[in-house]
Amino acid sequence: MRDANPQTIYLKDYTVPEYLIENVELSFILDEEKTRVVSKLTMLKNPLSHSQDSTLILHGEGLELIRVAIDEQPLNETQYQQSNECLNIDSVPQDKTFIVEIGNTINPKANTALEGLYLSSTMLCTQCEAEGFRKITYFLDRPDVMCSFKTTLIGDKDKYPVLLSNGNKIAEGELQNNRHWVAWEDPFKKPCYLFALVAGQLECIEDSFTTMSGRDISLQIFVEQSDIDKCDHAMQSLKNSMRWDEQTYGREYDLDLYMIVAVGHFNMGAMENKGLNVFNTKFVLARPDTATDSDYEHIEGVIGHEYFHNWSGNRITCRDWFQLSLKEGFTVFRDQEFTADQTSKAVKRIEDVKMLRTRQFAEDAGPLSHPIRPDSYIEINNFYTLTVYEKGAEVVRMIQTLVGKTGFRKGSDLYFQRYDGQAVTCDDFVSTMEEANDIDFEQFRRWYSQAGTPVLEIEQEYNQQLKTHSITIRQSCAPTPRQPAKQPLHIPIQLGLLAADGSVADICLDDHAPCKEILIELKEQQQTFVFEKLEERPVVSLLRGFSAPVNVKMQQSLEELAFLLSHDTDTFNRWEAAHKMSSQIIFGLMDDIKQGKDLELNPLLVQSYQTILQQSWDDLSYLSLLLSLPAENYLAGQMEVIDVDAIHKARVFVEQSLAEQLQNQFLELYQRYHKEESGQFDAGTIGRRRIKNICLGYLVKLESTESYQIVEEQFKTAKNMTDQMAALAVITDSANPNKLMCLDSFYQQWKDEALVIDKWFTLQACSSSDDSFNTVQDLTQHPAFELTNPNRVRSLIGAFSQANQLHFHAANGQGYNFLANQIIALNLINPQVASRMVSGLTQWKRFDENRQSLMKKALEKIINTPDISKDVYEIASKSLVPG
Ligand code: BES
Ligand code: ZN
Repeated sequence: MRDANPQTIYLKDYTVPEYLIENVELSFILDEEKTRVVSKLTMLKNPLSHSQDSTLILHGEGLELIRVAIDEQPLNETQYQQSNECLNIDSVPQDKTFIVEIGNTINPKANTALEGLYLSSTMLCTQCEAEGFRKITYFLDRPDVMCSFKTTLIGDKDKYPVLLSNGNKIAEGELQNNRHWVAWEDPFKKPCYLFALVAGQLECIEDSFTTMSGRDISLQIFVEQSDIDKCDHAMQSLKNSMRWDEQTYGREYDLDLYMIVAVGHFNMGAMENKGLNVFNTKFVLARPDTATDSDYEHIEGVIGHEYFHNWSGNRITCRDWFQLSLKEGFTVFRDQEFTADQTSKAVKRIEDVKMLRTRQFAEDAGPLSHPIRPDSYIEINNFYTLTVYEKGAEVVRMIQTLVGKTGFRKGSDLYFQRYDGQAVTCDDFVSTMEEANDIDFEQFRRWYSQAGTPVLEIEQEYNQQLKTHSITIRQSCAPTPRQPAKQPLHIPIQLGLLAADGSVADICLDDHAPCKEILIELKEQQQTFVFEKLEERPVVSLLRGFSAPVNVKMQQSLEELAFLLSHDTDTFNRWEAAHKMSSQIIFGLMDDIKQGKDLELNPLLVQSYQTILQQSWDDLSYLSLLLSLPAENYLAGQMEVIDVDAIHKARVFVEQSLAEQLQNQFLELYQRYHKEESGQFDAGTIGRRRIKNICLGYLVKLESTESYQIVEEQFKTAKNMTDQMAALAVITDSANPNKLMCLDSFYQQWKDEALVIDKWFTLQACSSSDDSFNTVQDLTQHPAFELTNPNRVRSLIGAFSQANQLHFHAANGQGYNFLANQIIALNLINPQVASRMVSGLTQWKRFDENRQSLMKKALEKIINTPDISKDVYEIASKSLVPG
């Protein structure tokens, strides 16, 4: 292994920094292979530190040190020690500020890990979160050391005409040898993980935004020249985000300039560096012919997310990386609400919950389960997880549910005001919410320290004589690594009652005033709620809006679900009813498959679809969700032992049967909206495309010549990428004889658009066709595939191993072996991305014995590779721990 004995870091070991940095002056002489860095740190002993040690320990990794000086006195080699990870400087002044000057060089071109300063095509850029700044120069690389930055960039005028860093441009000038320089100053103190620089041949679009207090902010988006016609949507999204944060949280932008740069090589989606966000091109570039409707939506969401960090993350940051959910959970919650306000609240909530339940619940039930505030880690990059992000957002949402929207705003106002300019903890956030609302969150805090998804078991009893309906709720949570026993959580449950005729029933509970919907708070292990004055047995609509991230076990007949689907006034639960009904039916069919019975589709599902199709709907995206079957990975999550073949077979059978029985309705709907296609972008047209393409998917399941003609026609004449992609996806997944021709013509059409080619890889990686494993293998040899580009890796290797359940889990283990080899090849190139790819194997306990042993073998092969990075090692080794 690279690091023979990887160290575990514990939250309980946190101590305040021994030294502080007041300000830093950085200068960079930029060069692809040898960039020179000079850093001048004004430092002092932290008055809050109890340490008597006069050694200054700075973080630094992979740096070529040239010079160290303290207060202008150069140090000789006896006065400091260098190790792989640190620079220790002996006896620095204890009672006054002192200046540390460091000179070092780095090689951005050799930096394929894309952390620190690296090269993305011809552009130099940085990624410092979480601990990448130490790959640029020696520093106190921890988020609770905040200081002001002044940065001077020097570079060749032709290679690097644009030189950017955080804050405001304060000066620039010309130098000899065709070089120039630009100086930047960031007036806001920040931790070094928010530092950024970008240099390259970039074009920019400009706009401006007037804040609520009347200040004019200049907005710039920088991209490579060939992408300059794909920035308008990102700019509009930025303006929408700025307005929304003013209207919703009263938060205004602080600097005079906001810059976004799009780079093709990026480990994540985007990064909130102060005043200079760096984005994966995937979340900036869009033109109707190159990006789908969902790309447009994601771009707006990610732009919003990084913008919102300016308050929830930058002005107020994390004390240590265990507190990551403080900024990420809260900011994901903020971006979810933003997208909900911009698009459809119902649809956004459903999509977020779908993701949470399939992916975060799996993480929470597996060997890598951890609380949203973890208490230990080996490699912090491995903790940017679905749990910290998505469950973290659910926990913030529950706080809002418990204190109400107004109370939540009171709490967030107090939080932003009280902690502005500081590095704080999750507990500070919760305490502020408590104080602002005069509420006790003592028990609620367990959501931060306990891992695992709670299960709610529901029992109901109607009492004819007393006219009461009692609901008994029992909560439990299975053991997770290092947490064998769980304490009861404080769980908000939104609830409604429906009368037998479908109308909303009045809720009378204890001394609450009668109401139409109620929030009940579960705190005990078991509690019974008795609803009164009910003339007949009501139908319960529980956990409305998915008011808590829990699994509910409640007996519901298909008839009851059909009733809720028709009558529930809660849009989430209405969809949930449809989803549960189709899940139950698919599980029934899987039993039939096992028993070798002939398959037959329950007519109730067809009837329900028919009813839905006859109604008129304003929100066609919502209708599309009602008409979509649960995903294969969702169904897998509900099974004791996952049977990928049976899931696929049963689900396809339902699709085909629905297509046969509702052929005319699907065709009519398809044609109606296909005729109206204008290529425009607004909620209406997006919904029409979505429902149309759902219908197309069903129709092609008929495998008829007519349906193949329809889909090929759409593929050839599509006016935008949404339609082209939808058609090609359906073709790739079918037995259409023209499939290869279509894929090839798509490649030829789009070979110069990297993001479209990513989609082309993904489509093939996700195909359920019999030959898809061979195709994926061949595609790794395609000239356009490269392991050094994370987007390519995710679009082929990531998609195959995480979204092609059927073929990745082939019983002979070829998928597992393939993935292990790819991870091993990627390990030294890019440990962060390699480590994320391991997730395809971590759920081995959920499969049959044969697959279990094959998956474990693949994990062992990975661990036994010489030079395994600590990123990959941590995930692979933890997932093999028995229990
Ligand atoms: N701060 C993160 C980006 C990041 C994470 C950088 C980990 C380095 C290591 C950023 O705010 C973020 O969360 N980005 C998300 C997208 C977001 C919409 C959830 C991402 O990159 O996936
Ligand atoms: Zn974030």
